[in-house]
Amino acid sequence: MNVPASDKDLPSIGDYYSATQLRADRWSALRECVESLRLSGMEGRSAQRLIKTAESLFQSLAPIESYWAFPGHAAFEHLRRLLEMRNIDDLSISVRRVARALTSGAYRRRHIPLGADEIDSEDYEDESAISPEARALGRPYFEVMIVDSVNEHQERFLRNALHRARRPEDPFHYEPVVVPSVEDALIGILFNHNVQAVVVRPGLVLKSHNELPLLKKYLVTLGTEGEVDHLSPSEYGPEACRLIAKLRPELDAYLVTDRSAEEIAGLDLGRCRRVFYNQEDFMELHLNILRGVGARFKTPFFTALKEYSRQPTGVFHAMPISRGKSITRSHWIQDMGAFYGPNIFLAETSATSGGLDSLLEPRGPIKEAQVMAARAFGSKQTFFATNGTSTCNKIVVQALCKPGDIVLVDRDCHKSHHYGMVLSGAHVVYMDSYPLHQYSMYGAVPVREIKHHLLKLKAAGKLDKVRMVLLTNCTFDGIVYNVQRVMEECLAIKKDLIFLWDEAWFAFARFNPTYRQRTAMDVANTLRETLRTPEAIAAWERQEKELEGADEETILNTRLVPPPDARVRAYATQSTHKTLTSLRQGSMIHVNDQDFKGEVEQAFHEAYMTHTSTSPNYQIIASLDVGRRQVELEGFEFTQRQVESAMAIRRAAASHPLLQKYFKVITAGDMIPEEYRESGVSTYYEPHQGWTDISTSWTTDDFVLDPTRVTLAVGGTGWDGDTFKTKILMDKYGIQINKTSRNTVLFMTNIGTTRSSVAYLIEVLVEIAKELDELLDDASKMERRSFENRVSALVEHVPPLPDFSHFHPAFRYGDETPEGDIRAAFFLAYDEEKCDYLPLDDTLQKRLEDGEELVSTSFIIPYPPGFPILVPGQVISPEILSFMRALDVSEIHGFRADLGLRVFTKEALKGFSCSNP
Ligand SMILES: Cc1ncc(COP(=O)(O)O)c(C=O)c1O
Repeated sequence: MNVPASDKDLPSIGDYYSATQLRADRWSALRECVESLRLSGMEGRSAQRLIKTAESLFQSLAPIESYWAFPGHAAFEHLRRLLEMRNIDDLSISVRRVARALTSGAYRRRHIPLGADEIDSEDYEDESAISPEARALGRPYFEVMIVDSVNEHQERFLRNALHRARRPEDPFHYEPVVVPSVEDALIGILFNHNVQAVVVRPGLVLKSHNELPLLKKYLVTLGTEGEVDHLSPSEYGPEACRLIAKLRPELDAYLVTDRSAEEIAGLDLGRCRRVFYNQEDFMELHLNILRGVGARFKTPFFTALKEYSRQPTGVFHAMPISRGKSITRSHWIQDMGAFYGPNIFLAETSATSGGLDSLLEPRGPIKEAQVMAARAFGSKQTFFATNGTSTCNKIVVQALCKPGDIVLVDRDCHKSHHYGMVLSGAHVVYMDSYPLHQYSMYGAVPVREIKHHLLKLKAAGKLDKVRMVLLTNCTFDGIVYNVQRVMEECLAIKKDLIFLWDEAWFAFARFNPTYRQRTAMDVANTLRETLRTPEAIAAWERQEKELEGADEETILNTRLVPPPDARVRAYATQSTHKTLTSLRQGSMIHVNDQDFKGEVEQAFHEAYMTHTSTSPNYQIIASLDVGRRQVELEGFEFTQRQVESAMAIRRAAASHPLLQKYFKVITAGDMIPEEYRESGVSTYYEPHQGWTDISTSWTTDDFVLDPTRVTLAVGGTGWDGDTFKTKILMDKYGIQINKTSRNTVLFMTNIGTTRSSVAYLIEVLVEIAKELDELLDDASKMERRSFENRVSALVEHVPPLPDFSHFHPAFRYGDETPEGDIRAAFFLAYDEEKCDYLPLDDTLQKRLEDGEELVSTSFIIPYPPGFPILVPGQVISPEILSFMRALDVSEIHGFRADLGLRVFTKEALKGFSCSNP
């Protein structure tokens, strides 16, 4: 047993990224400490030390436990008294039960007896052995935070009153946890993920007495500290409701008040579900609490599908697998039935009636599920897609852009956007992201670059044609934009600009307050609220005057303010399946566009029809519905845990001496140039300084790094990223990852990442480092030199990333601005006569260096980096060719090594102009 000999041996609070981890570790330390105490028979000096350690553990747990219903204040104090009375036998039993119930979650399912004379079933049965079916049948558990400054007697009254309201038919059960103040309520909802509803009562006070910095940090982190200081007591309740909605909008808040209905009606109460004027109507409150959680728990389509699968239907439609008939009657494919089990086949159907619905024209449960998803993700409309964000992107681009519209696109965006441009006939301005040559990856597009292109187009009289800005947020490597800044500044130049934010990797971001402020839907809602406030109008008028007659440089250097009549038009596409619970290909399109109904709806419908199968997969739709339920009830908890896991990787890799020898976790400072980090924050964890508070950087900086994506530089091992991924991580240790660069690998944590999988990863990295140490110890001089050469080739001699060159004049409309007609080039290449193939050799390199203009007919997409380094109509620069030649990757889409690079013939280009094809 690994018992800390004294409280000095406990990890300090500063070692913890979150109070949740601290809580779990303190309880298991307490369990081990009390058990050792029991075994010691309370004899000797070590017993004295153990008692001190136990006391200090109780002390550090006390402020934490006040926010949780289990074990609860009374039980906690009882345990403390057992220690005071030195009743170690009973204490040991009780502490063991608490710690075990916290780990297994048993307290969510049943009463945990803490008295030594009571019997706990877990003493005999393993909770973790409960089957998933049995768990599914149990009533879900949650906690209700009651905010009221009450004495012990009043608290007991409140609890009993709510307990008495319980009925056997209640679909859920909950326990109340009472906190006294607005600040405690905010700390509580950010710390206790079990909270699903908050009841704000008139007796609440303002300040928390809790001094634990790890908890107080929550107030600072979210910028709410100080927001409440100026309030009068009668405002505490409404303000608490408003702040709760800001931090965790999915929660239900109930305000119990003695202020008049008229007074309350004019206030911003966030998403308060009900205001109660009668403090003691507990049954009404109880029913509302259950109904509120029930509204999030509801899964209209999943439920409809389950019900459908139970109906005895005769199948006379085209789908032999429906109800498993083609399998159960088979002599050869029975194993498929055995593997998947019967339900999936019972739920397979091509019917759209019988309680089901059509994705193409939803009116029933699919429609309802989409409306609920819109609520959860903060959009005005949400559309499900059953073939990934690749399709969502094409739908949105086609719906919004027609031939001739100009779109500003980040050139390293996903290939679906480039194909979308071909489909829509939009003219594309490719914007360069800042490069990270050292790691062979791109960052993101600086706002200055976007403004520069908009201003150029404006100067050329083409601003009216500019339709959309399309950016990837966050990027594969985890660079996150300052969405609000980008939208505000662009709207200041063109007030009806549409934004498509590719959030393929960012669906989870909605459910963490720090992340949420950098999502398209949240910013769109903020802009709707703020654009037309008197302060915003005044700021815009002031800036208009200041910038009268200003030159481009001044405008580029100014943080632009959007005009009050700007339109809020934001779209986000999300691969739900990548970061949340959904079957593969389950994705969503979220719309927050003031002009959607008036201008886009019909075109959107057509685009949706273009790309959506008439046989969409019902299981995917059901999983999207369930995925939405999950995030509305536990998205906060899961994303919080995900961040914690990622931080654990960062901390271990930054502090383990052996790991530092061969690996480096790439920090925000490495991935984001200083000029884009106003906060100055460059790392999340420093061995000497501990954790950095990331809240300032997430509010101010142009770019931030999503900590849940951990890029590890592996050049120091002598293996390139791809070899490290396949030969070492995958083949040897069964660790799967999917993104590499020349000298890095990317570890993505997700909402399913556990503390043990993190521990395994660290173990594996340490083992690899040890093996390398041993190998180099025994290596000959030649072998050593060969290793060093490999490392230096990977770390120092990295081929520079090429910028986008330009479209050939045949595909441009004048040379003032850079937009190109990618669609014209794409279809010109259908004529084989107009194309030629050139090998990637020195002769070709020389021809380009001598100034010859060769033009790509195709998309050339090497993996990695995974985005087109050439698009149809693009002039091949010597830098692009050098990069291609230096790439040592086996997978390059659009390139045939046996033939060479496909280019347009001179003749094809001579006679061609996109303005007159
Ligand atoms: C930025 C980005 N957008 C879109 C996609 C496509 O998503 P899906 O796999 O859901 O089609 C990807 C896939 O990796 C991506 O990285």
